[in-house]
Amino acid sequence: MQNPVTLSHKDRILTVDINYPPVNALALPVRVGLLAAMRAAQDDPEVDAVILQASGRTFVAGGDITEFDQPAMIDPHCNDVYAAMEQLDRPIIAALHGTVLGGGLELALSAHYRVALAGTQLGLPEVKLGIVPGAGGTQRLPRVAGVSAALDMMTSGAPISADRALTLGIVDEVAASHLREAALAMAQRAIQACKAGQLLPVISRRSIDVSGLAPGYFDDYRRRLPPADKGGQAAHEVVRCVEAAVALEFAQSLALERKVFEGLRLSKQSQALRHVFFAEREAARIPGLKPDQRVRSIARVGVLGAGTMGSGIAMNFANVGIPTVLVETSQAALDRGLGFIRGHYETSAAKGRLTSAQVAQRMSLLTGSLDDQRLHDCDLIIEAVFENLDLKKQVCARLGQVCKPGAIIATNTSTLDVDVLAQATGRAQDVVGLHFFSPAHVMRLLEVVRGAQTSPEVLATVMRMARQIGKVAVVSGVCYGFIGNRMAEVYMREAEFLMMEGASPAQIDGAVEAYGMAMGPCRMLDMAGVDVGARTVIEATREGKLGQDPRYRAVVRKLFELGRFGQKAGVGYYRYEGRKPVADPETARIVSALATQHGFAQRNDITDEEIVERLLYSMINEGCKILDEGIAFRASDIDIIWTAGYSFPAYRGGPMFMADQVGLKAITARLDHYAKVHGDKFGYWATSDLLKGLAEQGGRLSAWAPH
Ligand code: 3HC
Ligand code: NAI
Repeated sequence: MQNPVTLSHKDRILTVDINYPPVNALALPVRVGLLAAMRAAQDDPEVDAVILQASGRTFVAGGDITEFDQPAMIDPHCNDVYAAMEQLDRPIIAALHGTVLGGGLELALSAHYRVALAGTQLGLPEVKLGIVPGAGGTQRLPRVAGVSAALDMMTSGAPISADRALTLGIVDEVAASHLREAALAMAQRAIQACKAGQLLPVISRRSIDVSGLAPGYFDDYRRRLPPADKGGQAAHEVVRCVEAAVALEFAQSLALERKVFEGLRLSKQSQALRHVFFAEREAARIPGLKPDQRVRSIARVGVLGAGTMGSGIAMNFANVGIPTVLVETSQAALDRGLGFIRGHYETSAAKGRLTSAQVAQRMSLLTGSLDDQRLHDCDLIIEAVFENLDLKKQVCARLGQVCKPGAIIATNTSTLDVDVLAQATGRAQDVVGLHFFSPAHVMRLLEVVRGAQTSPEVLATVMRMARQIGKVAVVSGVCYGFIGNRMAEVYMREAEFLMMEGASPAQIDGAVEAYGMAMGPCRMLDMAGVDVGARTVIEATREGKLGQDPRYRAVVRKLFELGRFGQKAGVGYYRYEGRKPVADPETARIVSALATQHGFAQRNDITDEEIVERLLYSMINEGCKILDEGIAFRASDIDIIWTAGYSFPAYRGGPMFMADQVGLKAITARLDHYAKVHGDKFGYWATSDLLKGLAEQGGRLSAWAPH
């Protein structure tokens, strides 16, 4: 490979250029090159100043995450490079553009001056990977930005704008354009300052301003963080490193930071979060699709149905500047949908997240109509009408007639057969499922359902579109519930069986919430609507998609029958005091009667461990069946479905990653155990062939690929 760090010398300025696509990560060759560059500058009396810049779309976006699995990091360490920079007796100007993240910002903070192009994003996102900044970030950032702002940046991992960085003193200048010229001008000023006898500004030599910190400041800060064992481990360690920065000499606290980084790098949370980072990117790769696959352009979007989902879906497109038409059957429904959208944008504006000009601009991109002919010039049309097969078939047939040739027709169905709907359009190759999650303008996950005849061009186009609207897309084949809801069905099944066996909703929710799920199954269904959940179960059972077990989801059906629709009705699995769920003795009575009716012996020895195993291991088993059937491409796609769409804790990596961590042999042993204890008349505990095979061979789901 070409040297990733090149030097050029002109007019007594040495330009050090990093060129290591795709994101100029600080991999070993880059560190070697940078250290050599500093030595060359030090030894060259013809150099008055150094400009450090990077080629391509971004400055340095961080340390090389692919190196973090190694048992030991290979020297030179970033700290060696940064020390050499700070020791140079001539000014270094970092010229920043794109995303200046992690080790990239640490690199910039080791230069003497920083100029950023407008639009640059700067941040220390390491906590999102379960680590602390490992090359002086926790030490240098508080010295320039102050303890409080530095902690906020590092414990959230959220990037800030160049303007904000200027306000905080992280950069010295923001250039509206012509970054190179701005850096050269800055270099000339720095050279003059040196000649005038000014000392070079070296951040590590500055002291930290602690005047505004109240006694107990760090402990108070820690209390606001998520607990260490609930994904907050790295954030707590950030606080520890900053506390050390305040108390110790720079060299000592830098050494502590490095030790902490090394410890976290190999931690379970970090391994899981790194898995999620790469899995998200892997999900975008579709096996069999050519890298140069042609894609269609999407300049106009149509959404049919302006209900809960349709209005949320439409917002995604308006947010990125794509004109979108919403088509409804009545003016009242249209007004409701557009009113919801306006209300949402105005609330965002009131919170300062949008300007009123942005609200006006987005609303101007959204038009409503009662005439479906308005869809004829749309490039992508998404139907989000009621979940009813006959209606959807009728709607799809009409779309087949109305939409222009080459338009992509998508369905947001959550339970219906995409292939049947595709046939109804008369152009199945143009049809795809786009399963948005509710609220559609918020949830990151988009399940892309590939029909039997969906063309590669359509698939590639919607994957690119998903990225454009900020979604993480995962491809699923056609089956009942697709990947996510099919697995969630198993999870809910076990939750309800456990309830009838004697566990309370609070115990079930508590057990999985202690594991890290944001919300247990009972609270979740109460919030989403017991009626919505029950109707789906009743309909699917009627169609024979959920088997013939009379006990199956007996609780949700009963609650529905009794009008206990969840939070909106004030009662469901829980009783609600405002929005607060409280245990309801009536639920216990209902469930106990169901248990008697269905022959469950109630017991009081159900442990949290059993709950977690029965809910999650059965779901993992279902995930393996999904892989075996070719519904999902790879295990990590399933992890993304669950972390991005169902609040599975990212610091646990997703259910399939969890399975590898627990060990597939251990999982199959527990599935066999439950089959023995409960019997297996309905095949609930039948271990998937894939899981069984991998367990026997000592294999791992993460390494599995279809033949
Ligand atoms: N190390 C290794 N590979 C990286 C990387 C990194 N830091 N950042 C991105 N990549 C890779 C991605 O895996 C992807 O590879 P692929 O094409 O083979 O899938 C490729 O670069 C492009 O990445 P994206 O698809 O994410 O491109 P985007 O343009 O959407 O986003 C980005 C660019 C904002 C830079 C985003 O990639 C990102 O957020 N990267 C991670 C940034 C980060 O976390 N930095 C801190 C790293 S840890 C660190 O610095 C430790 C230090 O303190 C010592
Ligand atoms: P909804 O009941 O809120 O909205 C449906 C809308 O479609 C109504 O406004 C109705 O007037 C309109 N409509 C009916 N027939 C129409 C037609 N012929 N032309 C134009 N508009 C028509 O329903 P919701 O919840 O938005 O669901 C829509 C679809 O999204 C369903 O397929 C559902 O399964 C799916 N979905 C729902 C999720 C949810 O959480 N609500 C999650 C994921 C998918």
